[in-house]
Amino acid sequence: MGLSVELHLPPDIHVGGGVSERAGELAKGAGLSRVLVVTDPVMVDSGVAGRIAGHLEEAGIATATFSDIHGEPTTDYVDAGVEVLREHEADGVLAVGGGSPLDTAKAISIMATNDGPLPAYLGYHKIPNPGLPLIAVPTTAGTGSEVTRVTVITDTSRDVKMMILSDHLLPRVALADYKLTLTCPPGLTANVGVDSLTHAIESYVSAKANPVTDGFALQAARLIGANLRRAQANGNDEEAREALMLGATLAGAAFSNASVALVHGMSRPIGAHFHVPHGLSNAVLLPTVTRWSLDGARARYAAIAREMGLAGADASDEEASEALVDELDALNADLGVPRLGQLDGVTREHFDRVKGDMAEAALASGSPGFNPRVPTAEEIVALYDQAW
Ligand SMILES: [Fe+2]
Repeated sequence: MGLSVELHLPPDIHVGGGVSERAGELAKGAGLSRVLVVTDPVMVDSGVAGRIAGHLEEAGIATATFSDIHGEPTTDYVDAGVEVLREHEADGVLAVGGGSPLDTAKAISIMATNDGPLPAYLGYHKIPNPGLPLIAVPTTAGTGSEVTRVTVITDTSRDVKMMILSDHLLPRVALADYKLTLTCPPGLTANVGVDSLTHAIESYVSAKANPVTDGFALQAARLIGANLRRAQANGNDEEAREALMLGATLAGAAFSNASVALVHGMSRPIGAHFHVPHGLSNAVLLPTVTRWSLDGARARYAAIAREMGLAGADASDEEASEALVDELDALNADLGVPRLGQLDGVTREHFDRVKGDMAEAALASGSPGFNPRVPTAEEIVALYDQAW
């Protein structure tokens, strides 16, 4: 009784070693003939972007590349990318890279077919028209952006991280190829790995969770929890990389449908004010915010702990949920995730000056409203201080 499941996912999702080699064939299948490849300088220099563009060219698709993306995605990058897209007369977009190129490409794809401006689409379901078809190829595990209907773009005129959710942001094809993550450096592996674990945990305890997203989220938590330390210690551990990519994809599918919660709500203002990458600002907050949230959903946090093998079936919910937070603390320590106060560019004076505004921005994003325990602005400030 009362069961209600809604799922919004890309029509084609491919997960596995080597699936990115099918980009040309799948782009052709989607009816594309001129594709804008959106990526970043790291992917160009490593040859990965060129290799994927080569697969498109082999299939008879004309490509142009936009790679002028440095750090977190901004409205400026989107505008510049749309210009290249128009020059190329592209009928589709392929994104290859971490969350920044993927999120930028999503915005470029919808700005090709909508009048904008992009900030007009901030929030939920505001984009009028579908975008150009998008093929998303992540090289980290990961933001899960390849399977989500969300993009987060910084509005450079106001220093606000805009969360935009719309079914029109769903990629047409997701190609989650763990082989592309083998060269992901240890620090980035850790940050985006904890971010993906955050997606799993937050979607499982979210007020919008449903039985399908629950299955995705628990499986993701198990895969990520068991493999993140391994992948950071040895980037070439293919078994660990493969598990993490599947975990990140499942976690993305979970949160895109069940929403994220307080960690992400509090993380975006840190990124906007201090230009801290998304994965890192979430990783920093996860243990502190989870500990505070436990009382809102003991049984749910306990279920995650049991799935991750942190507590036996006979442990009480109280014991199991505490074991989860202990593990989140240990994981951050083992992976070398810093404290909030240790982040590059974050000074105590600047932080104290803006933390009230950050708390208001966190609440305004809507994400904290889905947390099992919903904070006031004062409580959010106290949580920021605890994470310091
Ligand atoms: Fe995230």
